[in-house]
Amino acid sequence: MAKEKEHLHSDFYIRRFHSILGIIPIGIFLCLHLTLNSAAIIGPEAWASVINGMRSMPFIILAEITLIALPILFHAIYGTYVVYVSDMHFLQYQYLNNWMYILQRVTAIITLIFVIYHVIFVRIITETTMDVMAAMANVLQTPLGFVLELIGVWSAIYHFSNGLFTFLITWGVLHGERIQKLFSFLTMMLCAALCLLSLIILIRIAMMPI
Ligand code: HEM
Repeated sequence: MAKEKEHLHSDFYIRRFHSILGIIPIGIFLCLHLTLNSAAIIGPEAWASVINGMRSMPFIILAEITLIALPILFHAIYGTYVVYVSDMHFLQYQYLNNWMYILQRVTAIITLIFVIYHVIFVRIITETTMDVMAAMANVLQTPLGFVLELIGVWSAIYHFSNGLFTFLITWGVLHGERIQKLFSFLTMMLCAALCLLSLIILIRIAMMPI
């Protein structure tokens, strides 16, 4: 981690900006996105009306670009640089926190690939709500597609949940070992809950007769 510190100690404000963007707006968007898509658990009609609602919001393209795409772009570009300068000598690290640190960076890269694929697949090349639903259902109905989709979604969820914990440390909210252990546990519970929710959503979409 010494190499990382050497590269990053001068980037204090950029790093803080990168950190806050991970929560506002990107983390909030991720939670909202999962909540809205839980309509798929109810059934195809409920899910279709949510997708229609999202797509027909006024100024949706402008909001998507300014509130989602640009923050993710900045977070991803600087994040890739952080991963590049990170010290990731696996065998040197034996403690759980170090493995979580490594996983934070591995899931960053998987999330990057997944977000690019997901945006192209469900937002750029699909036109109607029916196209989106059919595209998702077709992918999830193959075992390989289901596993890859799950890896992408779970990576984003872990990256966000563990990131919420490191965010609270970065901003000096968690002082002391006991409170840090408690929040590490709570954020991993959040991670488990969101992973379970997303698994149920993906299974329900895979079962849709589309
Ligand atoms: C779903 C999309 C994403 C969300 C919700 C998200 C959220 C977060 C959060 C909350 C943090 C913690 C900030 C802190 O410790 O102060 C974080 C850290 C990080 N993110 Fe992301 N992120 C996302 C995508 C990405 C992508 C695509 C990359 C780059 C490939 C990336 C790279 C990183 C890195 C390297 C860190 C660690 C920074 C550090 O240790 O200081 N993230 N992210």
